[in-house]
Amino acid sequence: MKLSSLASPSSCLLFGSCLALWSSYVTLPVTADEEINLISACEPTIADIACNTTGFATLCDLLEITDLASVLAGEGPFTVFAPLDSAFELLDPALVATLVNDTDLLAEVLLYHVTPQLLPAEDLRCSAPDNLVEMVAGGNSRTLCQNNNETFFQKGAANPRDDMPEIIDTDIEACNGIIHVIDKVMLPNSVADLIETPPSTSVPATAAPSIADAMTEPPVAAPTAVSAPTTCDTIADIACGLDDFSTLCSLVVQFDLAGALSAGNWTVFAPTNAAFEAIASVLPELSEETVTDVLLFHVVADAALYSDDLECSALVEMANGKNSRTKCDADLVPQFQSGGDNSDGAEPELLEVDIPACNGVIHVVSNVLLPAGTLP
Ligand SMILES: *[C@@H]1O[C@H](CO)[C@@H](O)[C@H](O)[C@H]1NC(C)=O
Ligand SMILES: *[C@@H]1O[C@H](CO)[C@@H](O)[C@H](O)[C@H]1NC(C)=O
Ligand SMILES: *[C@@H]1O[C@H](CO)[C@@H](O)[C@H](O)[C@H]1NC(C)=O
Ligand SMILES: *[C@@H]1O[C@H](CO)[C@@H](O)[C@H](O)[C@H]1NC(C)=O
Repeated sequence: MKLSSLASPSSCLLFGSCLALWSSYVTLPVTADEEINLISACEPTIADIACNTTGFATLCDLLEITDLASVLAGEGPFTVFAPLDSAFELLDPALVATLVNDTDLLAEVLLYHVTPQLLPAEDLRCSAPDNLVEMVAGGNSRTLCQNNNETFFQKGAANPRDDMPEIIDTDIEACNGIIHVIDKVMLPNSVADLIETPPSTSVPATAAPSIADAMTEPPVAAPTAVSAPTTCDTIADIACGLDDFSTLCSLVVQFDLAGALSAGNWTVFAPTNAAFEAIASVLPELSEETVTDVLLFHVVADAALYSDDLECSALVEMANGKNSRTKCDADLVPQFQSGGDNSDGAEPELLEVDIPACNGVIHVVSNVLLPAGTLP
């Protein structure tokens, strides 16, 4: 898709003057004098493009309000995942109310869209751990792929799995970096509490206040209406919906576990494709019985154990009756989920935790969990 074809469904026509609305709640830090200094040695900068292109009026205004336009007019190089105006309109009203009121948090959310490197689309990776992208705000976002790596998403830590920012245009060149266009705002962990959606409250999309409404009213009380997800993905749906788990998915299907993982209540430690590749020489030598045992060693039955429920050094009984052990880092954060036959150099690291499914929770691991006695 070409940028010029991107519609501007609302931009600032609907927003009135976006800048004026947002800035009625915050002190506008960019003065006319400073704006002159924004003119950088090269052009067009990322800020120039964001502010001169239909579809990015909200981004442009928010960059100016938070004084980040000068950063993105600076030397770089940067890669920016730029949300469209329509992406900002999809934000949870409670989050908008808080961001309008808290420029530091707003700046953090915006800087969570920026990585301080040139990252053209051809360098985006679909598989963990190479798909982690370190953002200027601190913390990683993650590139995820579907449709044989033809559809790309750039998921923030707090973006729900079933509603990820899709990269809809790539490699727009600025003189100080690259812009990729996304259709949803990337959400860092720091806003996770503000967007928590009780699955039971279903509010029709039309009833949810828009970002424009939220901006025209003083943010006294956070609106209670939230747009609940209309679909609920099971563990099997999630494992089989992402390219990075295609090996796991085919094993689950081959060993008749897809039905079980479509109902019930489970915790699944899901190995990435790379995790299975690392034991590719061993896998074909294992009997079917052993493979089933290994697969069941990735599942906790009848429990949705979130990372907060995992205790450092404690044993967790897995669905095959054997125990794995949670190992923590120096800050007592669970870091590995290890089986008896996992060697030190190949511990199953928790690459991503707490992916909610409607029948449990998934944690992504870097290596296959091997129960004691698997390897010859
Ligand atoms: C828009 O683009 C022109 C030409 O590249 C540039 O001179 C100008 O500074 C840009 N405007 C903004 C607001 O970035
Ligand atoms: C807005 O900020 C003020 C001062 O920091 C705080 O007391 C108030 O609760 C905030 N309102 C919202 C809606 O976040
Ligand atoms: C998707 O890309 C990853 C590497 O990023 C690769 O390992 C995998 O085989 C690819 N999948 C497909 C279906 O092309
Ligand atoms: C799943 O298990 C957790 C305990 O790990 C429990 O709190 C939760 O209510 C269970 N959910 C269902 C739907 O049974």
